[in-house]
Amino acid sequence: MTTVTDILASMDYGPAPEDSRIVTDWLERFPQGFGHFIGGAFTAPNETFEVRNPATGSVIAHVAQGTPEDVVAAVAAARKAQPGWAGLSGHERARHLYALARHVQQHSRFLAVLETLDNGKPIRESRDIDVPLVARHFYHHAGWAEVLDTEFPGARPHGVCGQIIPWNFPLLMLAWKVAPALAAGNTVVLKPAEYTPLTALAFAQIATECGLPEGVLNVVTGDGSAGAALVSAEGVDKIAFTGSTEVGRIIRRQTAGTGRPLTLELGGKSPFVVFSDADIDAAVEGVVDAIWFNQGQVCCAGARILVAEAVASKFEKKLAQRMRTLRVGDPLDKNTDMGAIVHPVQLERIRELVSRGEAEGATLTQGEAPEGCFYPPTIASNVEPASTLATEEIFGPVATITTFRTPEDAVMLANATRYGLAASIWSENVNLCLDVAAKVKAGVVWINSTNIFDAGAGFGGYRESGYGREGGREGMTAYLAHPGPVASRPEVEPEAPVATPGAASTAPGIDRTAKLYIGGKQARPDSGYVYAVPGGLAGLGNRKDIRNAVEAAHKVSGWGKTTGHNRAQVLYFLAENLSARAAEFEGRLASFGIARAAAKAEVDASVRRCFWYAAQADKFDGAVHQTKTEHVTLAVPEPLGVIGVACPVAQPLLGFVSLVLPAIAMGNAVVAIPSQTNPLAATDLYQVLDTSDLPSGVVNIVTGEREVLARTLAEHDDVAGMWYFGTVAGAKMVEAASAGNLKQTWTEDGAARDWFGPVGQGREFLHRATQVKNVWVPYGE
Ligand code: NAI
Repeated sequence: MTTVTDILASMDYGPAPEDSRIVTDWLERFPQGFGHFIGGAFTAPNETFEVRNPATGSVIAHVAQGTPEDVVAAVAAARKAQPGWAGLSGHERARHLYALARHVQQHSRFLAVLETLDNGKPIRESRDIDVPLVARHFYHHAGWAEVLDTEFPGARPHGVCGQIIPWNFPLLMLAWKVAPALAAGNTVVLKPAEYTPLTALAFAQIATECGLPEGVLNVVTGDGSAGAALVSAEGVDKIAFTGSTEVGRIIRRQTAGTGRPLTLELGGKSPFVVFSDADIDAAVEGVVDAIWFNQGQVCCAGARILVAEAVASKFEKKLAQRMRTLRVGDPLDKNTDMGAIVHPVQLERIRELVSRGEAEGATLTQGEAPEGCFYPPTIASNVEPASTLATEEIFGPVATITTFRTPEDAVMLANATRYGLAASIWSENVNLCLDVAAKVKAGVVWINSTNIFDAGAGFGGYRESGYGREGGREGMTAYLAHPGPVASRPEVEPEAPVATPGAASTAPGIDRTAKLYIGGKQARPDSGYVYAVPGGLAGLGNRKDIRNAVEAAHKVSGWGKTTGHNRAQVLYFLAENLSARAAEFEGRLASFGIARAAAKAEVDASVRRCFWYAAQADKFDGAVHQTKTEHVTLAVPEPLGVIGVACPVAQPLLGFVSLVLPAIAMGNAVVAIPSQTNPLAATDLYQVLDTSDLPSGVVNIVTGEREVLARTLAEHDDVAGMWYFGTVAGAKMVEAASAGNLKQTWTEDGAARDWFGPVGQGREFLHRATQVKNVWVPYGE
């Protein structure tokens, strides 16, 4: 027995267990197990699986394994409820969301204890972080419902949203998904993770108790097969997924060509950068929050500590000391810092990765952990940048530590990952912090802080960490559709070009042979072949040409860093040069068989479009969010990088200009495939581009067979975004091929958009050309 003397001698905390009776009482009300929650009530459970408390291994519930039929029933309930829900006024929906927020607060202790029992996370975290953030999320989104009509005029909900969430923040991820979906007027079928389904079921029950109409929120439990059934279920209009990059890729392929919008929040391997002038004690505390919060099972965990060589030994010593003070154990104990790993399978995965790391030469420093499903806080040093521990998402309390010398080295190491979810930067020199924040490839950057979240700021990644944002205005856009163009007659795939040797260009009667345009130079197609098009011959580009063009586009990364003013100037110059040659372009279009009046209208509209995007180049700004005290969050739109653009066959000049200009106005470089049937309208622009001070490589043009070239672009790992305006089959191919590096895609029927009308230009194009980096900056006290 521990005596007072013992306690005074060790100065250790005694146990302070949270009472779990309210939760065990609730669980006991379901002796047959939990069914799904469909249409406002629990279904009778058929086949069930066990849910265990990972800290003790004991079975705490039985939960239904969802079948495709269950998913169909849930989607039907959501569909039935959707018109009524969307038909409410924004204010009426807001009242429901406020009620949800208040009920989360009223049930906060119950929800926190249930989350801790189900997931293993310390009660301190579920009580002080998860559940308050859940309530905050519903309050924030109640506000969006209230002001929807004025803030998003013309927008409408998608309909039924299929949402799949992971086990690391079960209730918080539910809130991130459900709150914006409902605020926008969608109804939901949610599939929680199989390890942690209980808070979602409890939440659905609470929501019904507080008056949410039946069918608005449905929960189908089960493993990945239930998730897969939801992704492909008829009647689902939008998919949102948070989880592993691997499953994200599967879902991207599965949804390709379905026209369902998709947002993906995937894995990470985020850097935690400590400069020599950092407040070392604060940075050490930062690591605790970065990698030992939630046992490291955090997608944005600061898993790679990069520390300046000058302070590395001091920092490592302090960090190791602090690590040893962490109390790992009973998650229900209010003094516990780190709880249980979610499941023995995950524990095994962590162990396996760490032992691979050791075999590769890593040295481990570890704290202590009890027997069972626990893993000690761990720091791994002597880790090569390309090794397992430095590259794989471990999803456990394991940080690697690597030293650097200069800020340039730090940035290089920070970006040496296929992911781009978050980064944390520590220095007392705010100039240095902001400089590095601009250079790091991550969707969220915390300066002298880490792992802080707020419903008012967007959260989401770059690169293979997925796309789309959750939270704030950015997050709302993912759940809203704008009445898009509809093709009355879908675009038909143009006939495959007939390859002719390049020498044919000298044949009489053929007036012009257009080359490709790569890196600011006209280039012969690698194949040596051309194909006949109205007005002459065009180069028949191939994979090699696309690869060269992508390489050239990459070389002009400086374009994205120039000011909006500089880009505007170049675009104004381009507009003027095109305007000066309007008559010539008109004649050319007419010579391709386009009626004179239509040719004139197309050139006029193209010139106007150049001016419009020149005007927008310095106006599509971000926002400053008032998030937490002592912080503001800067939402900065950044270019994607290199965007592939496959143009529609019709309106060969206007279609090209309408797509390429917004992309470059926002600082991207482009590899464009012009209209396959009428490419000379675009290749005639070479001289205009040459004389407009556009840096070489910002616009590259490869003519040829659109589907072949688009596939190469979609598969290319150095292309960050792919816009495809063509056939339905082509859109499917592009979306599936883009799953490799999870590039952002925008696909549409090439015949759908009226390029002359209001949908031919707009902020939507600029939005598609950018991704938002949210930078959390210390501000005020
Ligand atoms: P997972 O990605 O398999 O599971 C996430 C969710 O997706 C669960 O609800 C699961 O049932 C569902 N799911 C699985 N296969 C599916 C499919 N084919 N179609 C639709 N839904 C499907 O993650 P898992 O296996 O639980 O964890 C494995 C690793 O993934 C972790 O070690 C970690 O590295 C990473 N992970 C990352 C998360 C993040 O937030 N970035 C969250 C969870 C896991």
